[in-house]
Amino acid sequence: MNVTCDIPYPSLKNHKPNGEHTETIEQLICTCNKKMITVATYLYQHWILYPKYANISNLLFKISKVEMYHLDISGKLIILLGGNPELTADAHITGADKEANNIHQILKENIESEMASARFYQGQASLVKDQYVSNMLNRLAMDEILHARLFTSYYDRL
Ligand SMILES: [Fe+2]
Repeated sequence: MNVTCDIPYPSLKNHKPNGEHTETIEQLICTCNKKMITVATYLYQHWILYPKYANISNLLFKISKVEMYHLDISGKLIILLGGNPELTADAHITGADKEANNIHQILKENIESEMASARFYQGQASLVKDQYVSNMLNRLAMDEILHARLFTSYYDRL
């Protein structure tokens, strides 16, 4: 199963620090911190749903790796723009206080979270002045929409 869109990610090679990216860097650090929480949340869900919901557990692991890749892209973008990719490591894992087998609730929240991420990226893409960063954020949003669709397809089959 493909958990990323077929459209290639934009190249990072055109990015150069020029001292005018402060606001963009702050926005990217915000996306990195959100990604840290998403990666940790999906990894946690991958564990608690195994083995009762093996297919969904497997899907979560695949998607968590895509989220990790998004995090990697965002961190590299920050470096290329001349910033410091600081991270907030003390992420609260959403769902940690929920029943392990509340699969409907978990998938519902994931669908909402993915769509919120897509809107967040698209909103940031419209704000940043760097066209390459904007293109990248819009590309990341496409993956989030795909993830929402995948979670929805599993939810509908429960
Ligand atoms: Fe996602």
